[in-house]
Amino acid sequence: MSKIAEIKSSFEAEVKSCVKISEVQDMKVKYLGKSGELTALLKEIKNLPSEERPVFGAKVNELRNFIENALQEKLFKVKELEMQEKLQNEKIDVSLTSVKPWGALHPITLVENEICNLMIAMGFEVASGPEIETDYYNFQALNIPEDHPARDMQDTFYITDSILLRTHTSPMQARLMEKKQPPIKMICPGKVFRSDSDASHSPVFHQIEGLVVDKNVTLRDLKGTLEYIASHLFGSNTKVRFRPSFFPFTEPSVEVDLTCSNCGGKGCSLCKGTGWIEVLGAGMVNPYVLENSGIDSGKYNGYAFGMGVERIAIIKYGIPDIRLFYENDKRFLKQFVK
Ligand code: DAH
Repeated sequence: MSKIAEIKSSFEAEVKSCVKISEVQDMKVKYLGKSGELTALLKEIKNLPSEERPVFGAKVNELRNFIENALQEKLFKVKELEMQEKLQNEKIDVSLTSVKPWGALHPITLVENEICNLMIAMGFEVASGPEIETDYYNFQALNIPEDHPARDMQDTFYITDSILLRTHTSPMQARLMEKKQPPIKMICPGKVFRSDSDASHSPVFHQIEGLVVDKNVTLRDLKGTLEYIASHLFGSNTKVRFRPSFFPFTEPSVEVDLTCSNCGGKGCSLCKGTGWIEVLGAGMVNPYVLENSGIDSGKYNGYAFGMGVERIAIIKYGIPDIRLFYENDKRFLKQFVK
């Protein structure tokens, strides 16, 4: 009887620590198998006095039932456990978030849109044209013949002798005038290319070309238009100043300055102490340019301007290095999200 109790308690301890199906199966062999503990015990029955045999036999059977049930139960639990474990290992967490896509308008696009919307409100139409341009439109039509020293001002990327990446949006002036007779009131935003790269120059940057051709257009019309844009971009106290300059495609030509938006004209490091910041080139369309494109310069005249979008954005937002615009650093770009 003490042997029965011993087997029972060692079985109970052992079954508790089972965690695998194979362990439960091993235990079944160990306790209930042909050469298992209980079989061995039953074999001892013949050594007992006959009156004790039925009680002993009943106890062994009771233990057998107990072990069978316990192993059955354990097997069920262990199977369940193994299944859980398997599921856990094969789990795909569909709730795991992917990298969230993020997007917003680029500061250059924001400034370009702002300027275009102001121009559209004044009745200008928006046009676009090729970035790969011919020498004719980029230079010759604009009164810059071959070997003209003004070509040096623009470090041109040539594709062939006569095909290049446009160095400015001004070729659109000639393209527009060839297609359309006055009145013309257009702007052309777009990319331009120059072989130049440092903190204030990029090999690709953006310009907006403006062109008005009509009867009796004056420099004063140009100034009024620029004042309107400047006051909306930089505040109503912003003043516009014309300085005499030279461009082959305008006569007279002007360089346009705005009162420094940083110091309001008092003088600071941004405006190098002058109180003024140069923002664009402009002038009255040279009659040669009108004639080259089939417009009667005796009847019509016009003004044109070309502004650098990066330059405006740099001044508006106080950006120290033009290269920041092209690095796609989210920390930089996020600052412009409204
Ligand atoms: N195309 C000139 C440049 O890129 C800028 C410019 C000057 C455009 C005078 C004009 C203009 O339309 O009239 O430097």
